[in-house]
Amino acid sequence: MRLAKYLAHAGVASRRAAEKLVAAGRVSVGGEVVTDPARDVDSGVRVDGELVEAEAREVWMVNKPAGVVSTAKDTHGRPVVVDMVQTSRRLYPVGRLDADTTGLILLTNDGELANALTHPRYEVPKVYRVEVTPPEISERQLRRMREGMELEDGLTAPAKARMVKPGTIEIQLREGRKRQVRRMVEATGHRVSSLRRISFGPLRLEGLGLGGVRRLSAAEVERLRRISSP
Ligand code: URA
Repeated sequence: MRLAKYLAHAGVASRRAAEKLVAAGRVSVGGEVVTDPARDVDSGVRVDGELVEAEAREVWMVNKPAGVVSTAKDTHGRPVVVDMVQTSRRLYPVGRLDADTTGLILLTNDGELANALTHPRYEVPKVYRVEVTPPEISERQLRRMREGMELEDGLTAPAKARMVKPGTIEIQLREGRKRQVRRMVEATGHRVSSLRRISFGPLRLEGLGLGGVRRLSAAEVERLRRISSP
């Protein structure tokens, strides 16, 4: 495996940061300093003299409450989603939810999987439950969401949209632009009073309550890999 990828897999740093560590001469392989991030390695890698062990992969599902940010760190001191999971691994969120959005977000130390799941090529479907006001939403407005609508950053891809009951709609997107659901709903003249993601690819929140976390099983992780590999 390429050296930078090995370091990223081991949870030492992101791929980009690993390349910088290598370029800075801080990484050795078999006792010899290596400055080529593409060097093929499988063991004996040290950073600043410390042996790097290949790290087991973990994927967690979190039901994020409002007010928690889905970055690895927050400069404003707000609670961060990665602190909701008790693990010795350094986890990263898979994509983002707005601070005021609740619901399903995945955390993992598997950078490759995280990148694949958020890559537009795989069009992983995500379902959102949206409480809107006023509660009436017309078939024409739903159709605009289904067919694609013009937002300030361009036309949205076809989506699924249905009214669950007055005041509640469900939208399935296969793309993930910033605040996309909110902007789509607002473009129909509605206000979003709450937004919750209830599914991500094959995974659903189901029994996991707000603020709950659980580690995915090997079978669930395998399903995620299958939907995000060529
Ligand atoms: N769309 C939004 O508007 N917000 C989110 O957090 C996710 C999707």
